[in-house]
Amino acid sequence: ELFGNERQNSQGFNIEIEQEWSDFKALITPFMEHQWKAGPIISGQTLETSNVETVVAPYDHNQAVGQVQWAGTAEVEQALSNAQQAFPLWRDTPVNERAKILERLADLLEANYGELMALCHREAGKTLQDSIDEIREAVDFCRYYAVQARKEMSEITQLPLHDGTTAQLQRQGRGVFVCISPWNFPLAIFLGQVTAALAAGNTVIAKPAEQTSLIAFRAIELLLEAGLPAGAIQFLPGDGATVGAPLTSDNRVAGVAFTGSTDTARLINRALSARDAEPVPFIAETGGQNAMIIDSTSLPEQVVRDVIRSAFASAGQRCSALRVLFVQQDVADRIIPMLRGAMMERVIGDPTLHKTDIGPVIDQQAQQGLLNHIERMRREAKLIAQSELPEHANQGTFVAPTAFEIQSIDQLTEEQFGPILHVVRYKASELDKVIDSINATGFGLTLGVHTRNETTAQHIARRVRAGNIYINRDQVGAVVGVQPFGGQGLSGTGPKAGGPHYLKRFTLEVRQDNV
Ligand code: NAD
Ligand code: ALA
Repeated sequence: ELFGNERQNSQGFNIEIEQEWSDFKALITPFMEHQWKAGPIISGQTLETSNVETVVAPYDHNQAVGQVQWAGTAEVEQALSNAQQAFPLWRDTPVNERAKILERLADLLEANYGELMALCHREAGKTLQDSIDEIREAVDFCRYYAVQARKEMSEITQLPLHDGTTAQLQRQGRGVFVCISPWNFPLAIFLGQVTAALAAGNTVIAKPAEQTSLIAFRAIELLLEAGLPAGAIQFLPGDGATVGAPLTSDNRVAGVAFTGSTDTARLINRALSARDAEPVPFIAETGGQNAMIIDSTSLPEQVVRDVIRSAFASAGQRCSALRVLFVQQDVADRIIPMLRGAMMERVIGDPTLHKTDIGPVIDQQAQQGLLNHIERMRREAKLIAQSELPEHANQGTFVAPTAFEIQSIDQLTEEQFGPILHVVRYKASELDKVIDSINATGFGLTLGVHTRNETTAQHIARRVRAGNIYINRDQVGAVVGVQPFGGQGLSGTGPKAGGPHYLKRFTLEVRQDNV
């Protein structure tokens, strides 16, 4: 009912994955030379600014993808003022109309599959599978929040009072919501935040990540084409300091939905609380130090398959990605060589090629940070394996998938957002110590468990603090509507995106007592 007959989820278990590669190629090819342009969109008008950035493909810096004109202080002010002005009309637009616009957007995303796939490849460096997952998830968010909004925003709860009168409770939008997103899901997370805020009756100022403004710009064009009133969405590409910081310090903002690093979430939290204004909701979904625990009853082939996908899909650039694998000592000497073998079979390279498993990382800053960590680990840990880089790797920002054996998770001071896996051996008697060490990181995003012992699985799942726990499967790629996704502790505030409680946080509740 939610996703239509053939549209099942964002994992690629859908009709598109069954299409031949040549069908995809035919869709994407017309856009492989295309040069896109993006800039601030203020109430439907694309503005020119003097701050122009050229975008190059992360896998080949000689390939230009387009140009982005970044917003500055003047556009931030215009966006705030216009979004505030547009709010009452959008809040009072019947929820069914709001929902229909999101469904039309979903249709338009599907109709523009080829162009969006090309943008995922060329601007974000995503592989074929990752690009399919990305678009699928964006479509799922649009349809899911449309369904949820119809259900939750039109519901009037009647509460009988002792004196025979009735109180009524109803939800409505809060005002101007600022949505700030990361580059690693440039369409899915970007549109997930925006569509949730709009469905709930807020006007939105959307600030995409610096690295992926072109795809976000295209998504906003499609949203306007779907019939969204122009004032309800303001789009501000630009950097965190110039655009994000003033937005989150402004008294007119009625809420912030943020996905990105824990450090940035702290900055935004401080900016919001320093305002001379009402306290507002802050939804923050942040980083992780995600672990998987495997015991001696687990199935080695299944473990290796799930570890490879969890650690290296999207070049490890998923907040959910596996960073620290705990392997019970008794099976470590069997599993680690299998893992090494599987890593050496991965094909790293041009993400636009069908054969490629793992593409580049997003930019030079990310690459340098990861290479520094690999250098440090080479000194302090034991190398298990490093996959081979392609011949022309230096044309882009590639990092070879690498696995190290370390003594303890305490050796890792921060999230390494890329294809680096750490393996820790543990003795069966040390399981509780392992659990404590995972909890001591303070993060709480994803946890994987591989065991055929149900008691062990439940013991670990109850004791580890993690928002998303996966037993005997990989731990990335949560499916909208059925695997609501969000962290705890340093990993996020909740509520979970793609879940039944998400929209509520974007609303306020009005009670009216009728005499
Ligand atoms: P980031 O924190 O550097 O940037 C995220 C966004 O915040 C960008 O749009 C950026 O411009 C903006 N920003 C930066 N400084 C700001 C400021 N002072 N005020 C307001 N906005 C500001 O994160 P990133 O590098 O884009 O993304 C990677 C991070 O995101 C990783 O830590 C990853 O774990 C996390 N992430 C979490 C989830 C989740 O659901 N938990 C999903 C995806 C990514
Ligand atoms: N929702 C994304 C995943 O589960 C982050 O991988």
